[in-house]
Amino acid sequence: MSSAALTRIHHVGVVVRDLEQAYGFWRDVLGLPVHKVATVADQGVRAALLTIGGSEIELLEPLSPSSGIGKFLAKRGEGLHHICYATEDVAAALEEARAKGVRLIDEKPRPGLAGTICFLHPASTHGVLVEYAQPFPDEAHS
Ligand code: CO
Repeated sequence: MSSAALTRIHHVGVVVRDLEQAYGFWRDVLGLPVHKVATVADQGVRAALLTIGGSEIELLEPLSPSSGIGKFLAKRGEGLHHICYATEDVAAALEEARAKGVRLIDEKPRPGLAGTICFLHPASTHGVLVEYAQPFPDEAHS
């Protein structure tokens, strides 16, 4: 298995209007613990990661209506936003996707909430926004 291989679903991203309100279902009804909350200013979101086995649910609340997530919320409402796959080498995985002709959103990996990440364009993925993440070393199993 090359280090570019995708190893598991790291998280599923869900857009919500308000994190605290969303906890009422995702944390309190489903019983998933919130293990990390962070503001990612350059993506215009406040995000929470909830643990489910070896994977996570990533709740995304827009910081403003003009952010990417804010526009998604206005246009599509709350709901599924992306699927993120873990890899041990996000740069290699991105190069492999590029070499296979996949249209990219990120030309190179960048820091994100789940580690070093990149996004593939839904035009090449049958309509699903796909993220790759190489978890930070101290969070390899989170
Ligand atoms: Co994500």
